[in-house]
Amino acid sequence: MKGVILAGGTATRLAPCTDVTNKHLLPVYNKPMIYFPLETLISGGIRDIMIVSGKDHAGDFAKLLASGQEFGVNLSYRVQEEAGGIAQALSLAGDFADDDGITVILGDNIFEDEIRLHVQAFKIQGDGARIFLKEVNMESARRFGIAVVEGDRVTYVEEKPENPKSNLAMTGLYMFDKNIFHFIKDLKPSERGEFEITDAIDIYCQAGTLGYNMIQGFWSDAGTFESLYRASTLVKEKKSK
Ligand code: DAU
Repeated sequence: MKGVILAGGTATRLAPCTDVTNKHLLPVYNKPMIYFPLETLISGGIRDIMIVSGKDHAGDFAKLLASGQEFGVNLSYRVQEEAGGIAQALSLAGDFADDDGITVILGDNIFEDEIRLHVQAFKIQGDGARIFLKEVNMESARRFGIAVVEGDRVTYVEEKPENPKSNLAMTGLYMFDKNIFHFIKDLKPSERGEFEITDAIDIYCQAGTLGYNMIQGFWSDAGTFESLYRASTLVKEKKSK
């Protein structure tokens, strides 16, 4: 299975640090942020990886990561012209996925867990989609997508709910069968004008084909100063263990 790192968006929440560079090139403790999702995909045995970035600093990703040889992977690059949402960024990987399923990771998500077993489980699952959940406090649940689960199925998903029905946050790691690219084509923009990945996930949820795993180790996004600081601290603590 191939993988995609979504590293577009405007990252206004990290201004002025993002005025002259891309958020995913900023450091998380001792490495550029993009290294972390890249290493997570590699931990799953994924070797063909596409990076989708915005147009302003696309060349800097190639300068940093080049062909991927240093990491033992094949990298390709696509440019998202406007920050139209996560689902829109993913649609750019349709041809790359080559009529197969795909693992998707958000470029600002830092995971401690390796994902080899999850990739294997999804290959066995075959159809549908799989999301990865982490318990958070109710206050934080408002800034993520959340999921309600029953047994081994997800029964409800909602993006940034005012009154969360659950404290299970959807992390920015997803596995989809090939239908995802058809589903994205039919999405309508949300109230904030973005094509939301959660709306595409909801289609699988309604069809009863949305599985999940819990993330065991630490997880953080790094899209705000608070979360970037938290992610750096977690990485530093892990390194000094
Ligand atoms: O971090 C997990 C959360 O990420 C999930 O719980 C939410 O369901 C999901 O919608 C997302 O929420 P955020 O509000 O944190 O997403 P954000 O706009 O910060 O974008 C996250 C990454 O997605 C960003 O680092 C790059 C990529 N992205 C985003 C947009 C809007 C793109 O590649 N293109 C885009 O147009």
